[in-house]
Amino acid sequence: MQKQPTLEGRAAAFVEQVRKLVAARYSVVSVHTHEEERLERILGALAQRLFTKPVPLYLWSVTEGLHDGGEPAAGSDDPLVALDVVISHAKPGLYLFRDLHRFYDDARVVRRLRDVHRALRGAYKTIFISTPEARLPPEVQKEAAVIDLPLPGMPEMEALFEAARTAGKRAVEVDLGDYYDALLRGSLGLTEEEARAAFAKLLVGKKTVGREIIDELYEEKRTIVRREGILDYIPPRVRLEDIGGLATLKDWLRQRQRFFAREAEEFGLDPPKGVLITGISGCGKSMAVQAISTFWRMPLIRLDMNRIYAGVIDNSPEATLERAISTAEAIAPCVMWIDEIETALVGTQGMASVATRVFSSFLTWMQEKQHMVFVAATANEIDQLPPELLRKGRFDEIFFVDLPNEAERTDIFRVHLDKRGKDAADFDLVSLSKSTPNFNGAEIEQIVLAGMYTAFDQGRELIMKDLYRSLGRTVPLATTMSERIKEIKRWADTRAVKAC
Ligand SMILES: Nc1ncnc2c1ncn2[C@@H]1O[C@H](COP(=O)(O)OP(=O)(O)OP(=O)(O)O)[C@@H](O)[C@H]1O
Ligand SMILES: [Mg+2]
Repeated sequence: MQKQPTLEGRAAAFVEQVRKLVAARYSVVSVHTHEEERLERILGALAQRLFTKPVPLYLWSVTEGLHDGGEPAAGSDDPLVALDVVISHAKPGLYLFRDLHRFYDDARVVRRLRDVHRALRGAYKTIFISTPEARLPPEVQKEAAVIDLPLPGMPEMEALFEAARTAGKRAVEVDLGDYYDALLRGSLGLTEEEARAAFAKLLVGKKTVGREIIDELYEEKRTIVRREGILDYIPPRVRLEDIGGLATLKDWLRQRQRFFAREAEEFGLDPPKGVLITGISGCGKSMAVQAISTFWRMPLIRLDMNRIYAGVIDNSPEATLERAISTAEAIAPCVMWIDEIETALVGTQGMASVATRVFSSFLTWMQEKQHMVFVAATANEIDQLPPELLRKGRFDEIFFVDLPNEAERTDIFRVHLDKRGKDAADFDLVSLSKSTPNFNGAEIEQIVLAGMYTAFDQGRELIMKDLYRSLGRTVPLATTMSERIKEIKRWADTRAVKAC
């Protein structure tokens, strides 16, 4: 597999791409971006050093006409006139046209673009068209180059953060330690403007800031996801400590925490692709996924395959999936959660072929993705999962979450008592856990809750007796479904790693 370009190289790669196009005397280059100002700055710097002598950068917009900082050329607010002026210039130069795409419906503009292409062939003059959409009129598609301006990378984010940090009378002290990179990485996906505004907001009026600003930063990213309306943003609520047991899974996550750090990339490690968490209902699968994002400090977004099949965008499931993926990539690094992936595979009734088609493009994306979108999927009906999903290389690991064993149940009781402000030391957890074989995490939580209702109702503190009483009233699901659970375990034995 090809080595990923380093994030640091994002902007550098773009500059290199532009340099090559200009050297190859491309006359029209359409640049797909929302960041007009940044593009202007990059081109301005390039104009200074692209040739042996600096060349001018001309700017055009319908309001300002064509100019290089001085008086605009006469009548050049008309795009046709502006393009003529470009043709007539004798010397090399770069031109940045803003919003020209708004005139693509005008046959004369399209014609003139083709004329430009012909006239500028052989001259070192290149027109850059900055546009938020990748579309070009079909007549010019063959003649123009289309490139993306990638969003700012780590070094640019670092510079922006530094600028924001030192903007006030006194520089803000930053106490982030190892998390400094996490902050910068977390800001990837924002445009320069968005990052500048976000950093200013995080730092304003503060003397020192710590890790909490990473969470605040995610709030900013959340608005990006909301704008799209296909993915759900899940706020960080579950911590790794809220999960009882699952030690192997937790260790796995701990080991990979630093995979997203700059050093790992320099070391030549590819970031983890994803994990599939299978297992018995109510044992903490969904919880574990949520904890991944909190623990790794990356935003969590949920992909609902049914929304994809419904084809929210252009009535097309494919286009909808594409949009969902590009949104996720824009806010990468992030965790993408697909809950109960087996239902997504079957699709709703009558949709089976759509489901198969869309899902196979999803799998292809997973295999080839370059962005740090960590896919975390959960599955209950694991024997329904198709072999191609389980193939090596898709997920880094497939975990099986079993019913908690005795030690884990102790842990889960402790977590739920703690969570509700009870001192676990006041309870005989070992005895509770011995009395609850076959209970899953959700049922243990219910025991604690039901016990607390009783105690509250009787106007006193929670005692062991309350817990025993509610325990006696519960028949664990695993008992009623023992055959099914045996099947699931048999399946998992050869295919998955135990999460505990
Ligand atoms: N290991 C655990 N530690 C602490 N709490 C747990 C654990 N497992 C389950 N719970 C409790 O049970 C609830 C349900 O767990 P969760 O939704 O993660 O289960 P699941 O495996 O995804 O189940 P399903 O297959 O039904 O979706 C959690 O909100 C949590 O309160
Ligand atoms: Mg679940």
